[in-house]
Amino acid sequence: MQVPTQQSRGGAVLAGLGGWLPPRVVDNDELSRRIDTSDEWIRTRTGIARRHVVDNGLSTVDMAVQAGRRALRSAGSYGEGIDAVVLATSTPDHLCPASAPQVAAELGLSGAAAFDVNAVCSGFVYALATAAGLIAAEIATRVLLVGADAFTTLLDPDDRTTVPIFGDGAGAVVLRQGSPDEPGAVGPFDLGSEGELTDLLYVPAGGARLKRSDDPSDHYLRMQGQAVFRHATARMASSSRAVLEKAGWHTSDVDRFVGHQANVRILTATAKNLGLPADSLVVNIGHTGNTSAASIPLAMLDGVVDGTLRAGDRVLVSAFGAGLTWGSTVLRWPGLECEPPA
Ligand code: ACO
Repeated sequence: MQVPTQQSRGGAVLAGLGGWLPPRVVDNDELSRRIDTSDEWIRTRTGIARRHVVDNGLSTVDMAVQAGRRALRSAGSYGEGIDAVVLATSTPDHLCPASAPQVAAELGLSGAAAFDVNAVCSGFVYALATAAGLIAAEIATRVLLVGADAFTTLLDPDDRTTVPIFGDGAGAVVLRQGSPDEPGAVGPFDLGSEGELTDLLYVPAGGARLKRSDDPSDHYLRMQGQAVFRHATARMASSSRAVLEKAGWHTSDVDRFVGHQANVRILTATAKNLGLPADSLVVNIGHTGNTSAASIPLAMLDGVVDGTLRAGDRVLVSAFGAGLTWGSTVLRWPGLECEPPA
């Protein structure tokens, strides 16, 4: 789907960025004592050394509130007058209702429009397009967009094919109405899906199709890793090409590639496919694992903090997730004051 740019209706501009990771850290050695795996296997196959996980009752809403608060602080005066809160998540605190209204209330934003977007690991890019659309349509002027997932709550703790690759966390941005020509203006977008391939990555039970299953494994994430890998690299590359063409950018115009952090080999293969140099990649998966909808804003934040993402950089953003779903966008990086993720 080619989403119209907001060029004719005003731009949506990135004005703040924040992130939060739960304090409990699980490294590969700890995992190796629990399941049949090794630090060497996980590092070489995924690039992950450790991940943060929720415990002690921490939830998606709790993480989203922490990240949201930091993004609002980062936005300064643009953090005031927020009229919509969009939460990208596939692990809401409750099946019903959405978690965004609770996030809004806990941030003192009660009264703002608030809803969840579920496109799993593509959720942040889908929600970014949605938030930009709200601004372009003049339904909102300032939007808090949070990507937050407690993805480890979907995993069978004994499943060595999924446990090593996921972590929990939240990342958030503030978008404000502005000019499509100024630094930070997001878009155009390319979004897509392929629902025929839902069962490559899904949780069979717990939803309306099968509320409860006698087979406990039906309540955990089921993943065909190799097939997901192949689709991820192909779709992130084709979606990136589509959005670059729409933006009128050549591959050589891209300074930084912020891709969904699912596996460092997926990022490297996608960059190679696109002809982007390896040093254009913003990579933080080593200490976060795959944090699903939080992964892109958390990678942006680490990029700002460690200096790989600088004001003026031309940035390509691309994500891929269960569904299957994918999405990409571009922006010129604005100057932002950010706190490191706590
Ligand atoms: N530790 C040790 N050995 C393992 C582990 C483990 N944790 N897991 C699998 N193995 C073994 C397998 O049994 C297999 O053994 P065999 O050769 O004796 O049969 C061997 O390692 C290789 O297994 P593969 O599945 O071929 O390993 P691969 O290189 O494909 O890596 C991985 C697996 C990391 C899951 C990779 O396929 C991948 O990253 N896929 C994409 C997953 C993904 O990104 N999912 C999220 C998408 S985004 C979203 O929406 C959530």
